[in-house]
Amino acid sequence: MTIASVPRHRSGSDVSPLLTLADFAQHARGELPSDVWDFIAGGAGRERTLVANEAAFETVRLRPRALPGVEEADTSVRVLGTRWDAPVGIAPVAYHELAHPDGELATARAAGSLGLPLVVSTFASRRLEEVAAAAAAPLWLQLYCFRDEATTLDLARRAAASGYQALVLTTDTPFTGRRLRDLRNGFRIPDHITPANLGATAAVGAAAPGAHSRLLFDRCADWSTVARLRAESGLPVLAKGVLTACDAEAAVDAGVAGIVVSNHGGRQLDGAPATLEVLPEVVAAVRGRCPVLLDGGIRTGADILVALALGARAVFVGRPALYALAVDGESGVHRMLALLTEELAETMVLTGHATPDTVGPDVLLPPRGPYPDWSQG
Ligand SMILES: Cc1cc2nc3c(=O)[nH]c(=O)nc-3n(C[C@H](O)[C@H](O)[C@H](O)COP(=O)(O)O)c2cc1C
Repeated sequence: MTIASVPRHRSGSDVSPLLTLADFAQHARGELPSDVWDFIAGGAGRERTLVANEAAFETVRLRPRALPGVEEADTSVRVLGTRWDAPVGIAPVAYHELAHPDGELATARAAGSLGLPLVVSTFASRRLEEVAAAAAAPLWLQLYCFRDEATTLDLARRAAASGYQALVLTTDTPFTGRRLRDLRNGFRIPDHITPANLGATAAVGAAAPGAHSRLLFDRCADWSTVARLRAESGLPVLAKGVLTACDAEAAVDAGVAGIVVSNHGGRQLDGAPATLEVLPEVVAAVRGRCPVLLDGGIRTGADILVALALGARAVFVGRPALYALAVDGESGVHRMLALLTEELAETMVLTGHATPDTVGPDVLLPPRGPYPDWSQG
């Protein structure tokens, strides 16, 4: 899809083009009940980390290439042995039905039609088997450490049996962060939307995500979980929520197949750094022993290039997927992902890269000088 062919979205009397992911967010805000908007858009505490994620990309400057000589950029990459048509996928986000009745089926179809992956959340509103049957997208399943480990292991087995390619263990959530917007709104997941993959015990009370997680999640879980998940499922296990060199070391020692640098979109520890800020620290600690991926604040194709330049193999978007679903279901998500991919391809050409593999730190202007002293001129 070219920018010129990006359709317009009609919301009431307002007709404006969906040219950026910010446009999708703006339109979604008009479509969603305000408490649902707050649940999706909000973060923990004063939302410093939420804001920092996007702001970190704002400070980066890219170095263009003169006469770059690249006819067309090939955005495809290989991640854990699988080809993705671009280094971007959809992060695990609970309850896609909040944004559209087709829920995760629509998201999976859209991602699959573009050769991009979807990480299905433990709190998906559709059964993981149904999602697998709906689409040819590379699927990963995200897991939490439940106090009742049988619940976690059962999900891992079901994922393997349904053709999921990897498990993503979320490591930053001993309980759900203090999300003030939801507390102020008294937010509850509407009754007709349920965590379709969880049995009755785990699902009871799920409508109030904050209180629910304090009962269900195992705060004492440790890195030995990785080996049990792998043994139970035979699938590679990635760790999501790593922000420090020390945790990256621990994750690699535990045998992870990959690390997702993530602060849960600013929804857990408010004051945690932006993911982009700590990416170099994690990449350096991992020393190429497994791929490092990133989520948090990715809103343009140029943002993807910046993450690649600092050592990420690929990135994920969270909120933009729900906004696009709210705007236009499967076709909205398709348009959003196609837009990101097209922006990435354009940025690659302008910076002289025919493939993501050649993108490195030289594409970035160092954040601090040495700048020429113009006053001497
Ligand atoms: C509404 C919402 C629900 C989420 N649910 C989950 C979840 O179930 N499991 C998980 O590991 N992360 C969850 N996340 C975090 C995302 O996987 C991801 O880390 C984050 O959204 C990335 O930041 P971005 O939204 O700025 O792209 C959720 C995020 C949002 C916004």
